[in-house]
Amino acid sequence: MRIVMLGAPGSGKGTQAQRIQKDYGLPQVSTGDLLRRAVADKTPLGLKAKQVMDAGELVSDDIVLGMIKERIAQPDAARGFILDGFPRNISQANSLDALLADLKLKLDRAVLMEVDFQILMKRLTGRRTCSTTGQVVNIYFSSPAELEACRASGGELVQRNDDNEATIRNRLQVYERQTAPLVDYYEKKGLLRTVAATGDIDAVYSRLKAALDLA
Ligand code: AP5
Repeated sequence: MRIVMLGAPGSGKGTQAQRIQKDYGLPQVSTGDLLRRAVADKTPLGLKAKQVMDAGELVSDDIVLGMIKERIAQPDAARGFILDGFPRNISQANSLDALLADLKLKLDRAVLMEVDFQILMKRLTGRRTCSTTGQVVNIYFSSPAELEACRASGGELVQRNDDNEATIRNRLQVYERQTAPLVDYYEKKGLLRTVAATGDIDAVYSRLKAALDLA
């Protein structure tokens, strides 16, 4: 199955894609994660992308398309994948269509994670990633046990550089301007499913599985 996850920053795309990956073995392909790795490794691509990401703008289409091409050619993506954070504008969506057509593959679903804008700021300012396990948690929404698990593993809860209020505001504007038009794009292709992504993470996951016809 080949899936595109759509949704504003903080709508839970990464959280839910990781669950699908764990339960169904479909790799989560997150352009944000690939870019953050390149930044951390100080690769030439990472050095180029850092400023753009810290400002909450989009990295150039050719950079992300190159990363996607390389990633979906890997063996673990042969059975399918979940694209998380890609495509991000109409031009990237057209490039994805062309890439899949070249590979004689098709997209099965695009899922929109729908969340009220007011709660996104709290989710994003509260997000932390465990430095040892990589587990993403939230200081406002995760249980004390989930937060403690990171400390118990010897890790620290780290905040993403772009999870500050000013950058979040810009990311939300960039989403509205450049990414939200993809909802119509996939609707017209008959691929769109919408998931109410507010409320308990487990409940959202059940709704997502139903939208993807996964048992
Ligand atoms: P990226 O990493 O893709 O960030 P994003 O789209 O802003 O999405 P987020 O990761 O912020 O949100 P999410 O929906 O995954 O939420 P999460 O599950 O973590 O991109 C970062 C940057 O990279 C971009 O700004 C851009 O510069 C660049 N980039 C990436 N892709 C690009 C592309 N294709 N083209 C160009 N540039 C690109 O959840 C958020 C928090 O909420 C967590 O703490 C989580 O625990 C919590 N949470 C989740 N669900 C719930 C729930 N149901 N209830 C309570 N809390 C919840």
